[in-house]
Amino acid sequence: MKPCYCGARSLFLLLTLILPLQVALAQRGPQRFRASDPGPRPNPKSSIPAAVPELNANEIALFTESLLRVSELEGTCDTCVQQPQGVLPIDPDPSNPFSPKKLVNSAGMGPVFNADQCFTCHMQPTIGGSARRDNAAYEVAQRMGATNNVPSFEERNGAFREVRFKFDKYGSRDGGVHSLFTVAGRSDVPASCRLEQPDFEKELRQRNLAFRIPLQLFGLGLIESIQDSTIRENMRADRYEKQSLGIEGRPNINPNTGTISRFGWKAQNASLTVFAGEAYNVEMGISNDLFPISRNENPDCNKAYEPFDVPRTDDISYNNPLKIMPAWLMFTEFMRFVDAPQPAPMSSSASRGQHLFKEVGCALCHTPSMKTPGTANPSSQWDEVGAHTVALRGQTVNLYSDLLIHHMGATLADNIVQGNAGPDEFRTTPLWGVGQRIYFLHDGRTSDLMTVIQDHFSFPGFDGGDNPARDRDSGKYGFSEANGTVGRFNRLSESDKQAILEFLRTL
Ligand code: HEC
Ligand code: HEC
Repeated sequence: MKPCYCGARSLFLLLTLILPLQVALAQRGPQRFRASDPGPRPNPKSSIPAAVPELNANEIALFTESLLRVSELEGTCDTCVQQPQGVLPIDPDPSNPFSPKKLVNSAGMGPVFNADQCFTCHMQPTIGGSARRDNAAYEVAQRMGATNNVPSFEERNGAFREVRFKFDKYGSRDGGVHSLFTVAGRSDVPASCRLEQPDFEKELRQRNLAFRIPLQLFGLGLIESIQDSTIRENMRADRYEKQSLGIEGRPNINPNTGTISRFGWKAQNASLTVFAGEAYNVEMGISNDLFPISRNENPDCNKAYEPFDVPRTDDISYNNPLKIMPAWLMFTEFMRFVDAPQPAPMSSSASRGQHLFKEVGCALCHTPSMKTPGTANPSSQWDEVGAHTVALRGQTVNLYSDLLIHHMGATLADNIVQGNAGPDEFRTTPLWGVGQRIYFLHDGRTSDLMTVIQDHFSFPGFDGGDNPARDRDSGKYGFSEANGTVGRFNRLSESDKQAILEFLRTL
């Protein structure tokens, strides 16, 4: 049979046609300027985040204690794991009788987990942030003799990803987080404890995985204090401009209360308390008042009293009211009292970018600010009251989000349903703090803000391109609600695009 060189021939033809054209374009005067992401601003010197200004003395005491708690390195029981002093930015103070002698005062790590410390995941640019540059999964997998493999989707220089399965083995929707690691082999569990990691590589080959990276925790007390009525009012604002660009957006509603849930990539959780209790159970495998049942009840591996993390009255070392508080509740206090990200001063290009961000329509989803109710000094008892914490009342929250979910199409879809957020719907990510973040989008697929903007674009029939969760359903999604805005962005001059990227890096 005669070999066919048709592929090679058409490649040759293409090159002879295209190359001269490219050379001609490149020679057309000085090299063209192309907009590019200036990259993250440097991290602050201290890894300890600031508290919301003007907290009262009780609130500051809670915040300080909460910093200790989010720093705990968890083990499987109260006494069986230790964190050497000097490892943490905040260490127990030996001169303070209330300071814990060991940083593990609420352990009970369950048989399966993702990590053993909140800030293993929430660390960039300080404690409470999002994913750090190097993937912490490699540090956690074999801590204390554990024998875990790190799945291949955890890139060494990538964001720590947690994983959800789209469907179960019977083909029904799953959607839940599947723990990456087990305690088997650790020196703080009995040798009889045997557990197997799920076969993530098989699920990966079958395109059954969806990834999520950590969101930052700064300023969440302010976001929690925004009233539903404020979110709805903002949803109704600028109706005609939104319509002309194809922007809709709706709240994710908590089915039991009918109120707007707002935390998480799909706005799936209604409160900080729920997120804290759930993270303690799901990420660290620690059962608590909110989620009292362990995610794995293997009796050879589960040696703690359950639920493990409840108000502790059983031990004299918890004789301080602050120590009696369960850790999951203290995590809530941390998130309530940790200050919002602080923007950097703007260059003239960045402030032009701020204006253009509104003009092209980014601000129609990424709402620059909303207010919390109340005033610090009400003049009568009938004044609008607001949060218990005076410092959270009447504040302008510069979150850059409408806290609504939007259809984003096949480029971003992860085929996970949470509440009324469908397979391609995501909450508008709050952009405050974006200037110091390293990884972007729910799956951490990129560190480049230009890619982020382009990935807001999608059309029916598109197969999802580089979307790590691309699967057989990808062709089924509709247009992204952000298409009109991305179109406008792409028609800007390169220096105007640059101005928007510079603006984003001041946030
Ligand atoms: C293994 C990594 C990991 C650990 C450990 C972890 N988180 Fe997270 N966190 C995530 C991921 C991933 C998300 C996004 C989850 C989603 O929306 O699906 C997240 C999101 C959150 C959010 C939502 C923030 C927002 O803006 O909506 C809160 C609150 C939170 N985590 C609190 C905690 C607390 C408290 C702890 C310690 C108990 C903790 N996390 C430990 C990975 C982690
Ligand atoms: C239709 C609403 C909508 C519009 C319009 C929109 N965005 Fe977004 N944006 C989103 C949603 C939803 C996400 C989360 C997507 C995901 O993670 O899958 C997001 C994510 C982002 C992120 C990543 C944040 C992070 O931490 O991962 C950046 C940056 C961003 N948008 C900037 C912009 C800019 C700049 C524009 C204008 C050119 C814009 N967006 C227009 C809804 C919108």
